[in-house]
Amino acid sequence: MTETLDEVWLVDDDADMRAATAQWLDLAGYQVRSFPDALTALAQLDHNMAGVIVSDVKMPKMDGLNFLTRLNALDRDLPVVLVTAHGDVQMAVEAIRQGAYDFIEKPFEPDRMLDVIQRACEKRRLIMENRDLRHRLEGTSGIEQRLIGNCPGVRRMRDEILDIADTDAPVLIQGETGTGKEVVARCLHEVSSRRQGKYVAVNCGAIPENMFESELFGHERGAFTGADRRRIGRFEYAQGGVLFLDEIGAMPLPLQVKVLRALQEREVVRIGSNEPQAIDVRLISATNSDLLAACTAGHFREDLYYRINVVELQIPPLRERGEDILLLFDYFIAQAAVTYQRPPLSVMPSDTGLLMAHDWPGNVRELKNIAERYILSSLPEEHRLPTILGTSCQETLKPGSSLQEMLRQHERTLLEQSLTRHKGEVQAVMAELNLPRRTLNEKLTRHKLERKDFF
Ligand SMILES: Nc1ncnc2c1ncn2[C@@H]1O[C@H](COP(=O)(O)OP(=O)(O)OP(=O)(O)O)[C@@H](O)[C@H]1O
Ligand SMILES: [Mg+2]
Repeated sequence: MTETLDEVWLVDDDADMRAATAQWLDLAGYQVRSFPDALTALAQLDHNMAGVIVSDVKMPKMDGLNFLTRLNALDRDLPVVLVTAHGDVQMAVEAIRQGAYDFIEKPFEPDRMLDVIQRACEKRRLIMENRDLRHRLEGTSGIEQRLIGNCPGVRRMRDEILDIADTDAPVLIQGETGTGKEVVARCLHEVSSRRQGKYVAVNCGAIPENMFESELFGHERGAFTGADRRRIGRFEYAQGGVLFLDEIGAMPLPLQVKVLRALQEREVVRIGSNEPQAIDVRLISATNSDLLAACTAGHFREDLYYRINVVELQIPPLRERGEDILLLFDYFIAQAAVTYQRPPLSVMPSDTGLLMAHDWPGNVRELKNIAERYILSSLPEEHRLPTILGTSCQETLKPGSSLQEMLRQHERTLLEQSLTRHKGEVQAVMAELNLPRRTLNEKLTRHKLERKDFF
């Protein structure tokens, strides 16, 4: 643990200053990461960062104090040292008032800087040790039973959930379809300090566009035709608890502005009213689409994206969870046996290879469905899984294809999957598919696949 603790993240828009400070810290034995602006640092920060932040105050895009606010929301216990202009006492006082660990005046004495950073790192180390201990004690919080899995990706996610449980930081859950986004959102609510409060889920993909505003913000009686009585919106309804906006990418643009305002001002105005209502709600959002790409394409507001994405939870797809596939399958067949009152079964050794080789495009949901079909099947046990998986594979092939066409399609799919897994990294794809570079290139050309599309 200790070797990662002395990490310092340095944020300064002045390249010379950044390089000089980094050099000082490097010589003093710290592991330094430098960033030209706060947003870049935020994008890479995970609340479990074991070190401390040293940030300049005067910076374009996002200044040090705003940065501090975002960091506080992410992790109250992350020490932030701000670098203020010499003599700017007011700024220094303000920084401390807002929760900065300490400040250093520019131009700084290296000794003073190192002293402050050393103390900040010590504080951070204690906090991380405490968290670690708490996690081990909280092995009994029930999260393991709700969010099943032992692979590193899932364990990390459970840790992250416990770490952010008691903050009010907005969380964005990202994952392919069926990976368990709703499970994660609910889990987070149940282990959080708001667990006594309501959990209000809204599926943004299922609300007609003209109903959105009223659904989220509510309306007064007579606000529009058909509004025959006052209705409380979901934001107000979730008061004191959690609002879960599922499929947030489907939210219409005009509504995004209003949601952003509600989050910034912490208040909502019902349609037909002038009276703002204060709201105290933690926001959890989920998406299976690439929201940043949606921002670039102009379908999603970037300012809203950064507002809802203070903490990001990435759920790994099932194909990357290794033997968790078997663990989950066992769990789901046991569950299905109880639900459908069938005799309990366990996975046949001959089935494990099939389960591991399947690529699970529908993720955990697909696995759960297959487990149910397995339990309900009237075939002899050894024929069940090959038959069920066989049909679910065939479903993806076009009917009437020739063998050659099927092979071609299959080859393309395998190439795409490997490229996706390795983000277009040629060496890794060559190794995985055991192909020489030249053959790989020929195949990519033949299938009109471009590496850059997978970066
Ligand atoms: N780690 C897990 N442990 C136990 N059950 C899980 C886990 N992950 C997912 N499930 C189950 O898998 C199914 C799909 O999960 P969920 O509905 O949360 O996925 P999702 O990511 O929200 O999917 P979609 O993108 O389609 O909305 C549910 O039945 C859920 O209970
Ligand atoms: Mg879902």
